[in-house]
Amino acid sequence: MKATPKIAVGICSSISVYRSCEIIRIFQKNGCDVHAVMTKNASLLISPLLLTALTGHVVRIDSFEEEPSDKIDHIVLAKTIELLVIAPATANMLGKLASGIADDFLSTLFLAVECPVLIAPAMNEAMYLNKQTQENIKRLKSHGVRFVDPEKGYLACKDEGWGRLASSGRIASQGMYMLDQSISLKGRAVLITAGPTREFMDPVRYLTNRSSGKMGFELAREALRRGADVTLISGPTDLFPPRKAGFIAVTTAEEMEYAVLKNAKKADIVIMAAAVSDYSFAKKSTAKIKKSDSEKTVELVQTNDILKNLGRRKGDKILVGFAAETENVRNNALKKIEDKNIDLIIANDVSEEGIGFNSDDNKVSIIYPDGRTIQTEKKSKTEISQEILNAIEGIIGQRS
Ligand SMILES: Cc1cc2nc3c(=O)[nH]c(=O)nc-3n(C[C@H](O)[C@H](O)[C@H](O)COP(=O)(O)O)c2cc1C
Repeated sequence: MKATPKIAVGICSSISVYRSCEIIRIFQKNGCDVHAVMTKNASLLISPLLLTALTGHVVRIDSFEEEPSDKIDHIVLAKTIELLVIAPATANMLGKLASGIADDFLSTLFLAVECPVLIAPAMNEAMYLNKQTQENIKRLKSHGVRFVDPEKGYLACKDEGWGRLASSGRIASQGMYMLDQSISLKGRAVLITAGPTREFMDPVRYLTNRSSGKMGFELAREALRRGADVTLISGPTDLFPPRKAGFIAVTTAEEMEYAVLKNAKKADIVIMAAAVSDYSFAKKSTAKIKKSDSEKTVELVQTNDILKNLGRRKGDKILVGFAAETENVRNNALKKIEDKNIDLIIANDVSEEGIGFNSDDNKVSIIYPDGRTIQTEKKSKTEISQEILNAIEGIIGQRS
């Protein structure tokens, strides 16, 4: 964390809006330079002047009503803050953020930031437990937004129940933890592979698999969020690579191998999430193979085992492999760890519906060489990537 991290606190029109002052003060006491952003409705509940005085910066409310400026203010702020905290967040704001609506300064800022985001909702229990609100929270979590859940207790509407804004101390300590985590991999070079490969039989036909690349891309995003220098090598996918990653597009297993071996030299951590084809065609025709009346038999040859090759020359690197299995998941994964000399294996059962290949969710076992295993719940690949990087950071911690 920098000596004086710059953060923004977004404030919505909940009855607990007054607590935002205390939250800002705690962040300031922890050394943060805080900028406040309010919704228009929040500014009707407490005075923007109070927050301007408290933060020492003009409060942003509405880009269109402020003094004309030659700068696009929400983009300038988005580029310079290290954390966005929205506390309190109303049900309305959760709905806007979950659906990508950007019609005021705060919701526009949310779309523009690449730093971590922490949200602390506050509302009446019926509003909080409303299915729509819960779906919005789930969606935002699946996009990597962290939450400090509200507490149960006496609410301003005189009801007793869930919905009370979490304590200011809890919100601030989670925010400070996220600031620490945002540089936890700073100075480390992380190489990640993703997606399938294509092995060509002729110029139009190829052998491939169902990998979408989502897991590797999410790992790259999470490593970037932790300050790492990320190189992402990917087979063909429909995904946009994360903006700040070095990106290398490959097609075949051979190209993947070349790119990995070339870039692994400078990497501290290598995560092989790509589903590299185990086989390619013995003969590759340069012209399209014509249809004929007879049956055809093709010969497949093994591709090189990139992970095993890396394991042989591992040095101090942390090497992480994936095992997509349909049976004996744990035993096969343990065998792979030993066989390939790797530090961690992420095993998933790709025969299970709704997880793994081409899905937004995953459920994995994170297995260490001594057999220790962390079994995750089924969750978004964004959240799974957080657990995997936590495990990798655990290994770094043990070694230092
Ligand atoms: C006094 C008062 C208290 C409110 N408290 C809450 C609340 O705690 N949580 C919530 O989601 N909405 C609350 N609302 C409703 C929101 O203010 C309303 O949905 C508003 O449109 C949200 O605007 P914003 O998200 O732009 O701040 C409250 C409204 C009033 C008038």
